[in-house]
This record gives sequence, C-alpha cells and structure tokens, in this order.
Amino acid sequence: MKVLANDGISASGIAKLNEAGIEVITDKVAQDQLAQSINDEGYVGVLVRSATTVRKEVIDACPGLKFIGRGGVGMDNIDVDYARSKGIAVFNTPASSSQSVAELVMGHMFAAARGLFDSNRQMPSKGSTDFKQLKKKYAKGMELRGKTLGIIGFGRIGRSLASYALGCGMKVVAHDMYPSDAPVQLTIEGHGTIDIKVPHVSFDEAIQNSDFISLHVPKQADGSAVIGEKELSAMKSNAVLVNAARGGVIDEAALMTAMSNGEIRHAALDVFDNEPTPDAKLLEVEGVGLSPHIGAATVEAQDRIGLELADQILEVLGKTVA
Ligand code: 3PG
Repeated sequence: MKVLANDGISASGIAKLNEAGIEVITDKVAQDQLAQSINDEGYVGVLVRSATTVRKEVIDACPGLKFIGRGGVGMDNIDVDYARSKGIAVFNTPASSSQSVAELVMGHMFAAARGLFDSNRQMPSKGSTDFKQLKKKYAKGMELRGKTLGIIGFGRIGRSLASYALGCGMKVVAHDMYPSDAPVQLTIEGHGTIDIKVPHVSFDEAIQNSDFISLHVPKQADGSAVIGEKELSAMKSNAVLVNAARGGVIDEAALMTAMSNGEIRHAALDVFDNEPTPDAKLLEVEGVGLSPHIGAATVEAQDRIGLELADQILEVLGKTVA
C-alpha cells in the first residue's frame, strides 16, 4: 500500500508506517497534478499540511482514495464533509501542535513588548551608526508580568498558551463560544502540576480590557473576520494583537488602518489572507511583527504529528504494528 505525504511527514511517522508495510512517498506533486498522481500511483491515502488543498474535484476524480490526513489542526484546505459523504476517512492531529503554537505566540508577545521584531530588522543596517537613536526608539518597552492576556478561542492551543502566560505572571482571561470549567494545568518541571481556573469573559470584555489579545479560532465558515474595524477601535490603544490562527480571522485592511491611526500598539501575524502570497503592503506596516505560518513548525510538533497520523492511518486501514 502506498500513501502520498504531499507536504511531508516526520521520519518517525514514516518509520511507523513502513513497519506496518505501508510505503510513504514524500515527493511533492503540483496541485494541478494531484488527482492524476493519486490515480496513476494507486495511493490509498493522501496526507497534507496547509499547502495542498483537497477539494471536491480531487475527491470526485479519485474513487480509490480511502483517507485524507491533515498533519495539523486546521482543515479549511479540505472539503471534509464532502469527502466523508463519499466514504473517505478524514482526520487531523489536534493533540500534537498546541504547545508549539503557544510558544510561538509567547515569542511574538515578548518581541512586541520590547520592539525586538523591529530592532532585529534595524540593527544590521543602523546598529553601528545610529546605536543611540535605536536605543531611544526601543526605550519604552514593557513587561509581560502583570499584564492581561485575553485569549479568544479556548481550545487546546488557547489553554496551552494560558499555561505559558500564567507561568510568566500574566493575568489571563478567556472567551470561547462553548466555555468549559476545566482548569488550565500549569506544570512546573520537577515540582508538579497546579490547576488554575481561568476566568471566562464576554468577547467584548476580552477585546476591551486586555493588554495582549491572542486569537485561537478557526476561519469563519462565511469568511467573515472576527476582528474588524469595530473590534480594533474597541481595543486599548497600547494593545498587542496576535494572530497565529488563520488568515481572514483579522480583517487585514482594517488592521492596516488601525495601525496607521495608532489605534493599537502592535500586531503580530503568523497567518495571512492569500497565503503563500500575502499582501506586501501589510508586511511593510511599521509595528507589525511577522512570521510565515510557522506555529506548528517545530521538530517536536512535527514528530508528534507524524506519529499521530501514522496511528490514525493504521486504524483506518485496520493494520497493527507488531
Ligand atoms: C495548523 O492548522 O495545524 C497550523 O496552521 C499549521 O499549519 P501547517 O501544517 O501548514 O504549518
């Protein structure tokens, strides 16, 4: 049996599948060649991250496909319901990357608090000539300890982020459509685990009263933004807004206007509309920290993802590893 991992899979995932007699091909197939390649090579399943899309046309053209696996969380690049209606198993790996995304958000928050994202851009060209001016430019940094972090979307990633932020002494509030009473677990290595109840607040309260706001909601089904002009203008003028969820969750045009009007202090974006060709104007806005959709891009997360995918494939195919 052969599986196409079109956006790659960890060596550990490949090894586990190979052990069960499943061959894994990682040679990238162009999007417009995907259906033909699946049929010509007789792949029983296709694995993707966010780069490859598996839409109705591919599903219709590949009657032999038994499963579509998403190595990661967001499945907006797959016509999930349609595939399932055709008897194709579709699964993702929700448990594996929360910690990596949470750590990236912490990185963006620290970078915002001290202007690191900008000083890293400026120092190579101006550090040896304008040192004093740059020192002055970044003189109004702030500490994270004691600041309020509002987390919009309190699933696995939001909860993982809460544990890091609590560990840094931040006050954390959360908003979720389906609030849960389950405590956040803060583990201090070698010292045990503390259960912490994070207060649930309304969306408006999280937006209006937080110093840092991090979004952990999926792209809305109708494509509408969760954060637009109204929400941006309701934020504190020194707020830091982080999006490591999905492009489109923030209205990018409204964000550019809000930044140029000084309505918020800083934004940090890991995800964009129109990936992989985000709006160049947005990338140039002063005060916006940037990364190219790398929330889950750690060796550790990809390793866990590969193993989680392998387990699910073996289950779908009814195979066991000796
Ligand atoms: C996800 O939904 O899991 C993340 O956005 C990661 O996407 P990626 O696998 O394309 O990096």
